[in-house]
Amino acid sequence: MKEISHTSRIFYFEDYHSIGNIEIIDLCTASINAMEDAYAIYSNYRVGAALLLSDGKLIKGGNQENAVYPLGLCAERVALFAAASQHPGKKILALAVATARILKNHEEIPPFPCGSCRQVILEMEQRQEQPIPLYVVGANHAVCKVDSVTDILPFAFDKTSL
Ligand code: THU
Repeated sequence: MKEISHTSRIFYFEDYHSIGNIEIIDLCTASINAMEDAYAIYSNYRVGAALLLSDGKLIKGGNQENAVYPLGLCAERVALFAAASQHPGKKILALAVATARILKNHEEIPPFPCGSCRQVILEMEQRQEQPIPLYVVGANHAVCKVDSVTDILPFAFDKTSL
C-alpha cells in the first residue's frame, strides 16, 4: 500500500484591517456589506461574498433563497457568475466571504464555502490560470485565508478527469 497525502495551509488574522493591503481590506469590508444583499428568509443565514477584479472593481453577492429550497444560490456563486458574465475576461484577484459567525481563534475551522462553491471557484481558477486567494471573514473582523481553493478541495474532479 502507498499513501497519497494532502496538506492545507490556513492563515488566521485577528482583524483583517491588519492585513496591510488596502484592496484586500476593502474587499473584506465589501463582503460584510454584501450580507445586506442576501435574501435568506428561510435559513436566516446571511452570507456575503465579494470579488476583486483585475481592473480594481469589486463585485458583490448575497445568498438568494427560494420557497423551492434547492433553487437558492450561495453568495459565492452569485458573485462569481455575475463577474464572469458582466466582466468577461477580467481576472479575479481575490474572493472574500462573510458571515455573522465570530471566528474565535486559529484552531476553529471557519465557515468555508460549501462543496459546490469550491468546485465552481476551482473552475474559475483554472479558467484564468491563476489561483484566487480566499478570505473567510467573521463578524468580529477576524479572517481565515487560504491561497487557493485547492487547499480546501484536494483531489478534485476537473476537466483533466474527463
Ligand atoms: N450559503 C452560502 O451562501 N454560501 C456557502 O458557502 C454556504 C451556504 C447559503 C446557502 C443558504 O442560503 C444558506 O447559506 C444556508 O445554507
